[in-house]
Amino acid sequence: MPNHAHHQRRRAEFLAAINTPVLLMAGGWISRNYPANWHPFRADSTFLFFFAEPEANAAALFDPKDQSVTLFLEERTQTDALWHGTVPSFAELKKAIGVTAVEKRSDLAKLVSKKLGKRKARTLGIPDQRATAEAIAITGNAVDFFDAAKVGDVDLLRTIAQLRNHRHPDELAEMRLAAAVTREAHTVAMARTRPGIYEQELVGHVEGTFARHGCVPAYNTILSVRGEVLHNHAHNNLLKESDLVLLDAGAERASGYCADVTRTWPANGRFSPEARDIYDIVLAAEKAAIAAVKPGVRYRDLHMLSARVMTDGLVQLGLMKGNPDELVATGAHAMFFPHGVGHLLGLDVHDMEAFGDLIGYGAGRKRSEQFGTAYLRLDLDLEPGMCFTIEPGIYFVPAILRDAKFRKQFKGLVDFARAERFLTMHSLRGFGGIRIEDDVLCTDTGCEVLSECVPKERLAIEALVGSAGA
Ligand code: GLY
Ligand code: MN
Ligand code: MN
Repeated sequence: MPNHAHHQRRRAEFLAAINTPVLLMAGGWISRNYPANWHPFRADSTFLFFFAEPEANAAALFDPKDQSVTLFLEERTQTDALWHGTVPSFAELKKAIGVTAVEKRSDLAKLVSKKLGKRKARTLGIPDQRATAEAIAITGNAVDFFDAAKVGDVDLLRTIAQLRNHRHPDELAEMRLAAAVTREAHTVAMARTRPGIYEQELVGHVEGTFARHGCVPAYNTILSVRGEVLHNHAHNNLLKESDLVLLDAGAERASGYCADVTRTWPANGRFSPEARDIYDIVLAAEKAAIAAVKPGVRYRDLHMLSARVMTDGLVQLGLMKGNPDELVATGAHAMFFPHGVGHLLGLDVHDMEAFGDLIGYGAGRKRSEQFGTAYLRLDLDLEPGMCFTIEPGIYFVPAILRDAKFRKQFKGLVDFARAERFLTMHSLRGFGGIRIEDDVLCTDTGCEVLSECVPKERLAIEALVGSAGA
């Protein structure tokens, strides 16, 4: 990619699947402080799915009646050529991209109205609110990107999800490349780790690696010795001898496809006995869930399986008490594993999460109301071509393990006194948390771990940490 033939096939599949016109917006630049100082442009993911390298402010009308795709682009001006360089003409792009027509963006409302006549078009809410407002004015659809119940017509969302959720070889190639860059970023961060440096220095190595390969972070990098804060975006801690570094970072390619990988390692290069025990439990849970992936398996069962394996390990360590199956049934495992085991992955790091549980959960399935499992973002039956993460973790979170309500609810099932020792170890800094996350493709017979190349065996990690020297 950019591979116009691939995207042309995707547009043809979409045209074959819809029975009314659809208007899609790419979105434009979002200003940082004054209007002309922009954040880097990133098109809406559904637009990126159908077009390689979309221009800012592009829009596209898909019309199944005549199987046409009309692309609307900003007019080429001398001022633009002066400040931003010359770009291909409409005629050149029409040929290269393989669309029916390329029209001026300023004519969007007029030409859509002319083409539709009395017919109505559907559209989607996208992160750029100005573009969404324009799409609402043209189509009359009351869409809202920030409300999953209103992001688009249910049938349209399902049609798009059906396409986006079954990856073609070109898309998988992109995801493998994103994983390879992510591997380099994680291993560089491991090699550069030593007590006495700040977390931010390692973030620089991670994001510098992405940039060297023309990638950007697919989401805000999580790099922290406070791994128990699940999405910790602060990077100002100094690494200490006893710290565990948790890195959750993934590269996004120019195509939009991304990786989402977590590794955890000791700052001084040697897992302590407690860290080794917890690490081995999390890794066993991760491997068990991955080994269970195949078509037809319900994703929620992978979540429960990893919860079961971790509960078993925590019982053996004396942190939980009782029969692991019964403990998982009560939800006691969420005292240490308070999130879902993963989510869809593709163009969005939580792919299509804006579309809500309508897409992430199968028909008739509802989120659990139990603490922990309520955060499970995915509950589909797996199909070949689906990509998702598997990311179990064990955390010692003061706000959970010291909560009076939970202490009462799970009295006798969780050894809170023993957990308290983990909360106060290392001069009250606490144990923190361990998460291991990989990106998995469901295949016809099982799975491929797209991020297999990122080391996760304890010995391999210990050999890497600090290996770059001072
Ligand atoms: N990187 C965010 C997540 O793993 O969900
Ligand atoms: Mn993830
Ligand atoms: Mn992650």
